[in-house]
Amino acid sequence: MEGRERWATKLGLILAMAGNAVGLGNFWRFPYQLAKNGGGAFMIPYFIALLLLGIPIMWVEWVTGRFGGKYGHGVLGPTFYLMSRESVKPRTALIFGIIGGMLAFSVTTLLNSYYLHVVGWSVAYTYYSATGAYYGQNTVAFFINHVNNLTAVLASWGLAVVLLAIATSRGVAKGIEAWNKVMMPLLYVFAVVLVARSLTLGSPVKPEWSSLAGLEYIWKPDFNTLSQNFFRISLAAAGQIFFTLSLGMGIIQNYASYVGKDDDIALSGLATVSLNEFAEVVLGGSLAIPIAFAYLGPEQAIKGGVGLAYMSLPNVFTAMGEAGRLFGSMWFLLLFFAGFTSAIAMYNYLVALLEEDLHIKRTLAAVIVFILYLLLGLPVALDGTLVYLSELDNWVGSYFLVLLGLFDIIVAVWLFKPKNLWDELHRGAYINVPTFFKYILLIATPIYIALLLAGTTYDYYNMGAFTASKTYVEEVLGGSYPDSVPIVTWARVAMIAILIIGALETYYSIRRKYGEELKQNRKIVVAGD
Ligand code: ALA
Repeated sequence: MEGRERWATKLGLILAMAGNAVGLGNFWRFPYQLAKNGGGAFMIPYFIALLLLGIPIMWVEWVTGRFGGKYGHGVLGPTFYLMSRESVKPRTALIFGIIGGMLAFSVTTLLNSYYLHVVGWSVAYTYYSATGAYYGQNTVAFFINHVNNLTAVLASWGLAVVLLAIATSRGVAKGIEAWNKVMMPLLYVFAVVLVARSLTLGSPVKPEWSSLAGLEYIWKPDFNTLSQNFFRISLAAAGQIFFTLSLGMGIIQNYASYVGKDDDIALSGLATVSLNEFAEVVLGGSLAIPIAFAYLGPEQAIKGGVGLAYMSLPNVFTAMGEAGRLFGSMWFLLLFFAGFTSAIAMYNYLVALLEEDLHIKRTLAAVIVFILYLLLGLPVALDGTLVYLSELDNWVGSYFLVLLGLFDIIVAVWLFKPKNLWDELHRGAYINVPTFFKYILLIATPIYIALLLAGTTYDYYNMGAFTASKTYVEEVLGGSYPDSVPIVTWARVAMIAILIIGALETYYSIRRKYGEELKQNRKIVVAGD
């Protein structure tokens, strides 16, 4: 398609894709998932999910994105529509388009609405570390004070969103690519410096506490714990693979839509996975948990939970004395870079949607998305209990991703047809993907994902997530029952409203572009075919 934006350089594309995938998921979410799910017990299903879900779906999403880009689409609705109509009539294909567009719209609006707040916490904590603000304080109370201090929250979150608007408004090559080219190398440098520090900490507090013991906790396979909690741990590991690789969000497809129609995607997809996994298991795995093991001991490190990065580690930096200010700032700046370069991908998805569907200029689109995120993020800012955030995360950040992953397979593998997918994956490819991956993709991935979805649904049902039971509100969302129930209800109203808007928007956009086909209900060749 003439005039569609492109990545300027191959390196820029790879760094942007790595930036898309490497996020808070790697340095904040991964350690607490690991700790919550038995360390070495978690890593076994994690690697299985990487092989059976992560790598294959990453390729599927690259194929989907480049395919859509050929027709001028960077969003999922029309792309899914075009792929589906290889097997079904346009009016049936429309349904798949609507589902894909609706889910990707919901993830990029709602997930980012709270993700940006965590990015904002990183901004604030970089400042708190540099100034030593939490030194000598109870770090849990300090964190709670921060999220309840509306001025501080609005300032740090607002700054993050303003920077995103500026970067995105400059375009794919001049904005997103340029910012990633600076932030990603810095992120890796900071992470390596911090890992070097982490692994040379020795035993600063007690002889039996050390970062190496933390590494052992992660890397020593623990089949016992795994067999006793097989489903729970497997679900958590697969969920982490989706989150960390940015799968089931629509944003890998969006970035891939800006590559040329004959540019390699097979090796690039693999490079995205490799850079992300290096950042996650090698770097991310050697930071929060090992550091907490050395300074706070195994018990505190494992119990740290969601608060590990923001509540436990500040104690560690305090214990390091003056040097802790430097390491603390580095850690939170690292989180900021990681979060920012992922948030920008979600931001751009919505900018692309406005550009393509409403023909709004990029700069104006960036402003509209800015206002949208401010509105959607306001309830998160106003809820110091974080129940609203947790409720969104529980559905959008976990369930929706897997659901969209299932439709990735249904549409881009089955309806688009496996042969087409395989041919597309290899067009312009620098590598030959081994044939056994085709079987993984055709058999293992769909079964795995169906089981995952069934298991998650059952799990959610059991913990009362569908009704907001007392156990669910207190144990899963960390709220108080029944006081937090209205907050849960509001989060659900927001989710339902966004799902409806996403479905309607996709419906109208496909109808406007492919109205004639839909009227005749037969495939008409369109530009790009
Ligand atoms: N993949 C991004 C992350 O890990 C969303 O945070």
